[in-house]
Amino acid sequence: MAGIEERRGTAGDKDEGAAGDTAGVADAPSVLDRGLLVSLAADLAALNYTVGGVAAFAGEEAYAALTRDQIVPVLLACEEELRSENPSMIVAPVMLWLLGGQVSQGHLDLAFPITGAAGLQSLRLIEPLDGPVPADAMRQAAVELRPYSSDADGDLWVASDLGALQRPGVLRHDHVLGIGGASLTLAQITVRPRVGRALDLGTGCGIQTFHLLSHAEHVTATDISPRALAFTRFNLLLNSGVLRIDPEALEERVSLRQGSLLEPVAGERFDLVVSNPPFVITPRNAAETAGDQFTYRDGGLAGDDIVSGLLADLPGMLTEGGTAQLLGNWEIRGGRSWDERIRQWLPEGTDAWIIQREVQSPLQYAETWLRDAAENRDRDAYARRYADYLKDFASRSVDAVGFGYIWLRRSAGPGTVRCEEITHEIEQPLGPHLAAALTRGDWLRAPGEGSGTTPGGGRENPAGRDLTWEYLLVAGDVTEERHQRPGAEHPGVILLRQGAGLRRTTLLTTELAGFASACDGELTAGQIAGALAALLGENDPLFSSNLLAMVRQLVLEGFLIPAP
Ligand SMILES: C[S@@+](CC[C@H](N)C(=O)[O-])C[C@H]1O[C@@H](n2cnc3c(N)ncnc32)[C@H](O)[C@@H]1O
Repeated sequence: MAGIEERRGTAGDKDEGAAGDTAGVADAPSVLDRGLLVSLAADLAALNYTVGGVAAFAGEEAYAALTRDQIVPVLLACEEELRSENPSMIVAPVMLWLLGGQVSQGHLDLAFPITGAAGLQSLRLIEPLDGPVPADAMRQAAVELRPYSSDADGDLWVASDLGALQRPGVLRHDHVLGIGGASLTLAQITVRPRVGRALDLGTGCGIQTFHLLSHAEHVTATDISPRALAFTRFNLLLNSGVLRIDPEALEERVSLRQGSLLEPVAGERFDLVVSNPPFVITPRNAAETAGDQFTYRDGGLAGDDIVSGLLADLPGMLTEGGTAQLLGNWEIRGGRSWDERIRQWLPEGTDAWIIQREVQSPLQYAETWLRDAAENRDRDAYARRYADYLKDFASRSVDAVGFGYIWLRRSAGPGTVRCEEITHEIEQPLGPHLAAALTRGDWLRAPGEGSGTTPGGGRENPAGRDLTWEYLLVAGDVTEERHQRPGAEHPGVILLRQGAGLRRTTLLTTELAGFASACDGELTAGQIAGALAALLGENDPLFSSNLLAMVRQLVLEGFLIPAP
């Protein structure tokens, strides 16, 4: 707690302004010379330093290994290339910025004919050397500069700090995170309607902002770290062409603001908020300062207070119908169910969908995060920090730590909360599937044709849409699986499986299986239920309504969809 208060006092809520002067942030890439940024973009494009270009040079498998933090296959490809008579120039940026290796001044001058090694030094992309530098002097990367490609944005280059594999020792505490697994997860699960104002809370190197720019008129990107904002500014300007921003009027599309959590945007409202916040639970220590904390993952609060605070406060920052998507950890305490505390954090008037994707024991959690910042390289410190973690979790009776996806919407009504655990493999990008699922959920809640008691319907039905009058189809990615004991007359197990999105599997009763097989859009759900009751000789007056309640769940989960 002390740490975050201290930061609030020093960081303030400054808008970074249009000038974009990063001179105050000496150890981040520089944007002072716009001409050099243009030269660099031209050199990188000429080198074909793109995801496709690097994969073609090193081989798809070696490149895939790099995305798993394994640098050896790409390193071997570079060494082999350098032994060749006429090495490809792409080796230079790969060696430098992906592997954290060294490249000679002469080689850099050849590979970057417009920018030159001197220009790379001015941009602070390589470590500085004083005076005239001989051609055989070896130059070292100061940052990572990674090609990134996404359907929404095209090919980008993204600068961040060098990671644990590219440099020795424990990470610096103000490490600016590159594009990691969590960044990609959030980018892929984000539902992307066209919106006016979007907020990227804790922007880091700017990865979420780059995606937001493809569907938001304006993005406010905040971070407590001035270095993170300097990296984001550099990345925005370097990629201004692909991101369709005017480098001379950046603020027309993006506002970069320094400050803690929601302070820099107090009193404002957004149509969409995305955040991969510093949610990592970290044992607090009375003597620690903000400088002791790994800013990229630790917001300085105790336990899961960062996530609980955001869930409580974010809905109030949204426009009516506005949404927020974030990733988070939550503590599962005292033998209670995982979602009990989360439900208590949410204010009235919030629709929420929380998907728990992973659960770790306190021990597994400690090990994961001590490894993440390379803290496991110092044995004594590792043992101390491990013990701190276990004591910290024990002090709050933490049984386990959950990780998952959070979707929030400001609702005009009291709000509905849906919490579910889906730990099996899913299909990314999930965003379009979540969007469809949310639309189906709204459709089910809305009054339908025959609902209500007034002729013509249209009245809000507290139970939601009456499916009796609706035509349904089996979703395109759904298949049925039947299992039966050898010789058995009927299947003992009937399953529906989704091939896409959340890839759910559901167990069907015989009646439900019969219902699903008749969903071809020809009969209403009520007609199918009636026909099944007649076929099965059912006299139970509740047969149809019970069946339609189960059908409702199949629609909610996307096995059945409304016919167009
Ligand atoms: C996990 S990183 C996410 C970076 C990036 N958005 C992504 O998706 O990869 C969390 C970011 O939050 C920032 N941060 C840490 N504490 C913060 C705070 N109290 N307020 C705002 N940002 C904070 C860190 O500097 C870091 O850039």
